[in-house]
Amino acid sequence: MAKIIDGKKISQEIKDELKEKTGQLKQEGVSVCLAVIQVGNNPASTVYVGNKKKACAYVGIESLAYELPEETTEEELLKLVRELNEKEEVDGILVQLPLPSHIDEDKVIQAISPLKDVDGFHPQSVGALSIGQKGFVSCTPAGIIQLLKRSGVEIDGKECVIVGRSNIVGKPMALLLLRENGTVTVCHSHTSDLKEVTRRADILVVAIGKAKMVDSSYIKEGAVVIDVGMDRDENGKLCGDVDFDSVKEKAGAVTPVPGGVGPMTIAMLMNNCVEAALQKKGL
Ligand code: GUN
Repeated sequence: MAKIIDGKKISQEIKDELKEKTGQLKQEGVSVCLAVIQVGNNPASTVYVGNKKKACAYVGIESLAYELPEETTEEELLKLVRELNEKEEVDGILVQLPLPSHIDEDKVIQAISPLKDVDGFHPQSVGALSIGQKGFVSCTPAGIIQLLKRSGVEIDGKECVIVGRSNIVGKPMALLLLRENGTVTVCHSHTSDLKEVTRRADILVVAIGKAKMVDSSYIKEGAVVIDVGMDRDENGKLCGDVDFDSVKEKAGAVTPVPGGVGPMTIAMLMNNCVEAALQKKGL
């Protein structure tokens, strides 16, 4: 029976560490502030944004919420982002994705100052990560590294396989595992023999968006399996990309959904906000 990696518990530890840090900073007269922009009312985005605001309140980060109507133009959104770039008291800027189809997401992300890019989506942040320079790292893959480290999983020298090559998870995940000296393979929809590759993994990260696709036949005995999926099963119940019940007998460790990777994303966002404030003060 696999060890269950408890993302809820580990994310709570990180938030508590950050809460202590913001408390100390407040005594030194330093506050931390995140601006969160949501355009339209995509129900999933509303839940995510609500969770981010709640986490800010817990950790001691001020949050400024900008809830803009669906009809907001690209120019109006860009103007707001530029204003927030200039605002001294704002440390981090987060534009919740997806944006309505009439707005070019890339253009909006590029408008965010890299110094306030707490999502780590700006091309400069991604470029810095790829050449080992300082910059903000996308929160979900950064959270997965924390999950592994805080669960005592060694990455150095290990065979790491990622299924999925998105800009937000797969690609930065590959770079982070590489930075930790893992041997990294990225699989995707054109990989010819997926199982042959995933069965080599000591650490398998699955981010494909297909409910319960990865069962025990995809994994090696004792592998660490990280499930980034947020899907619904045939009964409408929340589940991951990994068939948890099938994998748990064979894996060495596995993350559940919910309560695995999900809570880590927000904890790392909070971490990036505190980092942004520290960097601004030259601390
Ligand atoms: N939409 C889904 N996940 C994310 C995220 O991590 N950041 C932003 N900005 N939008 C998202």
